[in-house]
Amino acid sequence: MKAHKIAVIPGDGIGVEVVAEGLKVLEAAGQKAGLSFDFEQFPWGCGYWLQHGAAMPPDAIDILGHFDAIYLGAVGLPGRVHESVGVREVVLAIRSGFDQFANVRPVQPVAGCPWYVSHRQPEEIDFVVIREATEGFYCNIGGRYEPGAAEVSEVTPMRPAFARSTEIALQTGVFSEFGCRRVIRYAFELARRRDGKKRVTSTTKSNALTHAMGMWDEIFEQVAAEYPDCEHEWFHVDALAMRFITNPERFDVVVASNLFGDILTDLSAVLVGGLGFAAGGNLSETGPSMFEPPHGSAPDIAGKGIANPIAAILTAAFMLECLDEPDAAGTIRRAVAAVVEAGEVLTPDAGGSATTRQVGDAILAAL
Ligand code: IPM
Ligand code: MG
Repeated sequence: MKAHKIAVIPGDGIGVEVVAEGLKVLEAAGQKAGLSFDFEQFPWGCGYWLQHGAAMPPDAIDILGHFDAIYLGAVGLPGRVHESVGVREVVLAIRSGFDQFANVRPVQPVAGCPWYVSHRQPEEIDFVVIREATEGFYCNIGGRYEPGAAEVSEVTPMRPAFARSTEIALQTGVFSEFGCRRVIRYAFELARRRDGKKRVTSTTKSNALTHAMGMWDEIFEQVAAEYPDCEHEWFHVDALAMRFITNPERFDVVVASNLFGDILTDLSAVLVGGLGFAAGGNLSETGPSMFEPPHGSAPDIAGKGIANPIAAILTAAFMLECLDEPDAAGTIRRAVAAVVEAGEVLTPDAGGSATTRQVGDAILAAL
């Protein structure tokens, strides 16, 4: 029997609740498909930070490097631990630690999911957002400076407000030629593989951010020339955000830099029924990839047992596809589709009154 070694980081809040359902479904789908999993759970995150003063042990990346994939719930205990802790010490540390450059977020609604765009039907929408996940504004370069600092003197003449400020903050985005080219190429390769509309849409803002997005645009055109069989187009991120809602049917593969992709994929989650249905993964070419739903730890509903586990379960299906187990992934997708379409066992975000566990059980039964 084939075994996959999966590192599981449930994290905090609803991360723990939804990952439990994801694991249950993975086990069952694996059994049906004749494969087994070697799951190892790691209690890392903000709860761990409260006890140990660090959200992961210092050798966490070495440990995770021995696994085929990482399955993560969500991290964050806002109010108790500063939000940047879980983000920087776990999520971003793993994404950059394994060079997980391609954050893949499919926008493929399941029939029967909550529907917010009445001018379109779920079956008309089928695209995927590829978000660069290691660089841009997430490099966290910059600082906060007081008047008199060299950084402040340099910018002071630029705006009246700068001269009147008690503090100036600089946040520098870093965009590399290699990093942009790699993720844009990934998007074109995917458009080819999907063999659908074969259209890659680039997200830019080079009218205002001339340096970084100017380079991005040039690289996009260069890469597009390598794929004459694919259509290519671009929009500034603001206009693209509007089109995600007005014309979601026109997209096939959308590629974006890190921050733009972050914002766009919460928006695109609306097109699949909300964050409770949105899946994703951060893919690496050199180490394990990490599969995590785009949603957070949802402190407002954590502990109530009503979080929607479908995002985490579809994320598990996506993990199986990336592990080259399409049959097991397919059984999960069909089971989710059956439960959502029946509409009887859904959590409150989807108009139902079921608990997280009941939804997991219903999907298990549908398997
Ligand atoms: C996401 C999240 C993260 C991000 C946070 C938790 C750092 O919003 O995965 O979309 O911004 O990438
Ligand atoms: Mg986000």
